Amino acid sequence: MKGVILAGGTGSRLLPLTKVTNKHLLAVYNEPMIYYPLKKLIKAGIKDILIISGSGHSGHFVNLLGSGKEFGVRLSYEIQDEAGGIAQALGLAEDFVDKDNVCAILGDNVFEDDIDLSGFNRGARIFLKDVENANRFGVAEVDKQNKVIGIEEKPEKLKSNLAVTGLYVYDSEVFDIIKTLKPSRRGELEITDVNNAYIEKGKMDARILRGFWSDAGTFESLFKSAEFVRNKKSK
Ligand code: G1P
Repeated sequence: MKGVILAGGTGSRLLPLTKVTNKHLLAVYNEPMIYYPLKKLIKAGIKDILIISGSGHSGHFVNLLGSGKEFGVRLSYEIQDEAGGIAQALGLAEDFVDKDNVCAILGDNVFEDDIDLSGFNRGARIFLKDVENANRFGVAEVDKQNKVIGIEEKPEKLKSNLAVTGLYVYDSEVFDIIKTLKPSRRGELEITDVNNAYIEKGKMDARILRGFWSDAGTFESLFKSAEFVRNKKSK
């Protein structure tokens, strides 16, 4: 299993904090944001990790994380020239993943639960979290057995409160699927379209997260994430 951290995007929702630096380098309490997804991948036993970022601050990621020696893993770096969406960024990892399975995590997502890779062999796995404001996210529709039957990106009308978190496990077929995608209304290749392709093929399973989860891409969610980390530390 290879690991990919998706740390592209412009961080426009956090301006002016992101005017001269990258969102994923901002502090979440006492560590840079990207440490959280990185440590989750490492804890899951993943040793080979690719960090994909925009060109603007890519050198800062190298300065911060280096070869990965400090963390006992091997880090590689890739540049996403223009912000074209999560799926487009993941597509850049094809050579790195090299027919292996891949666990992709968004660089601004903070998870309490460890990554459950148990029993994963082929297909795809997503991780869902029951949240109050699901409209901000991909939202999963599930049947009575909790099987995911479809995902809608930022729907107006909710079919459930289950947000699709920024953690995805795929086999290498993901790269063939990405090549078939068309840009969405926001001009991006959507990870939700990748996930729906796996659902249509009947190759998707899902796990429900019990612990804290948040992205940290808005002032409010950045603050909430920092608060979670601080409270956990003081326990
Ligand atoms: C992205 C995904 C969305 C997912 C979210 C998790 O949204 O498109 O499906 O729920 O990450 O953080 P974005 O942050 O690009 O708006």
